[in-house]
Amino acid sequence: MAKKKTVYVCQNCGAESSKWIGRCPYCGEWNTYVEEIIPGNGKSSSGFSDKVNDIQPLSSITLNDENRLSTHYKEVDRVLGGGMVPGSLVLVGGEPGIGKSTLALQVALKSKGTKVLYISGEESLKQLKLRSDRLKEEDNEIYLLNETSLERVLEQTKKFSPALLIVDSIQTLFSENFDSSPGSVSQVRQSATRLLYFAKSTSIPVLVIGHINKEGSIAGPKVLEHIVDVVLQFEGDHNYVYRVLRALKNRFGSTNELGIFEMSQSGLKEVLNPSKHLVNQYHDNLSGIAIASTIDGIRPFLVEIQSLVSPSSYGTPQRTSTGFDSRRLSMLLAVLEKRASLNLFNKDVFLNLAGGIKVDDPAIDLAIVSSILSSFMDKPVSMKTCFAGEVGLSGEIRAVTQIEKRVQEAEKLGYKRMFLSEYNSLHSEKTKIRLEYVNTVGELFSKLFKNADE
Ligand code: TYD
Ligand code: MG
Repeated sequence: MAKKKTVYVCQNCGAESSKWIGRCPYCGEWNTYVEEIIPGNGKSSSGFSDKVNDIQPLSSITLNDENRLSTHYKEVDRVLGGGMVPGSLVLVGGEPGIGKSTLALQVALKSKGTKVLYISGEESLKQLKLRSDRLKEEDNEIYLLNETSLERVLEQTKKFSPALLIVDSIQTLFSENFDSSPGSVSQVRQSATRLLYFAKSTSIPVLVIGHINKEGSIAGPKVLEHIVDVVLQFEGDHNYVYRVLRALKNRFGSTNELGIFEMSQSGLKEVLNPSKHLVNQYHDNLSGIAIASTIDGIRPFLVEIQSLVSPSSYGTPQRTSTGFDSRRLSMLLAVLEKRASLNLFNKDVFLNLAGGIKVDDPAIDLAIVSSILSSFMDKPVSMKTCFAGEVGLSGEIRAVTQIEKRVQEAEKLGYKRMFLSEYNSLHSEKTKIRLEYVNTVGELFSKLFKNADE
């Protein structure tokens, strides 16, 4: 019998060691090394054939973009860069319960006329049937297989020859060549490599689902991200209905695109005009609300910022933020205390981005500061006003990127006035919206509560 070799593999980053180590020297995680058995027959078990490829001149290679397979969801197609490229391996990552399986099943059901094979290692076929009944999609005839053995999956898929293969999930697949348990680094890496080879050699696009761990990386190995062609992340807050599909890596398109969905009783619905959904229309005369014109990648949308500043009943005031970095909130509060002489040391501050979405665009600083000022003063900001600007440590308002798009989006939604940095100056004769340039938080303070129509 062939001698078996054991190695210790970090389940977080995929680093290998011949001995067990408590703390991974590469990624710094504790207790992540697990013993894995590598088949020692000297042969590569990756499943690659010995086929020799010819050398070809670059000019002889033709591109046929029209062959991209549409998912029939505009939001998904856009994130993919215009549909799935034949022979590509796409990974959809996300926390458990966020809606990955629902998304994959909806794509499968909507692709009328496309022969889709859905491999489920997690749910029984009855569960899938129940889910598909709930989705009420137009019925595409899709085919299901309950299987977790990688070898059998590949064998069956080859015979069946679908136009799209969906694997739910990569963590449940295991190769019989490896003794380690499903979901371990060697198994996940092996499955991904074999699926990639399968996709490339048959030109069948493969969509695999992968769980991410609590730190937010695709579970176990970073190595997985290197193997696949496209990494999409499906994210959102479980308490809210909005979900964002984002490209973290895309060999066939831009990583600046994002798709927005709403989880409903009957599955995911595309949100084609996010600003309308993320801004509450009925808040006139409420203090603590300000609208930010933000951009994620290249997509502009408006988001509502809500804050509540109230007297603190305990010694240490509470600072809580949802959807925004709490350290950045502390910094903005310090700036307000020092540069606008606001006494916040005995106040609790709660900040919330409506819809449960996360934004890390520095341009929302100005709206955050304004909503805090508004709640502090208990004076509403005019409903027709929005903001885009970064706040610096000395209270200066800094310029932000892609200002034209932000202004356009605000204009499109009927806003009358927009606050921005003086360094973002635009030719205001071209815009219908009134641009209000501010230099410092002090200046913002003095202009903020004036009527938008003045
Ligand atoms: P699921 O796709 O199973 O998540 P994942 O595959 O990422 O683990 O989605 C599960 C959640 O979505 C579950 O909490 C219920 C909810 N859901 C709806 O709200 N509406 C629906 O129509 C469906 C199918 C699921
Ligand atoms: Mg699932």
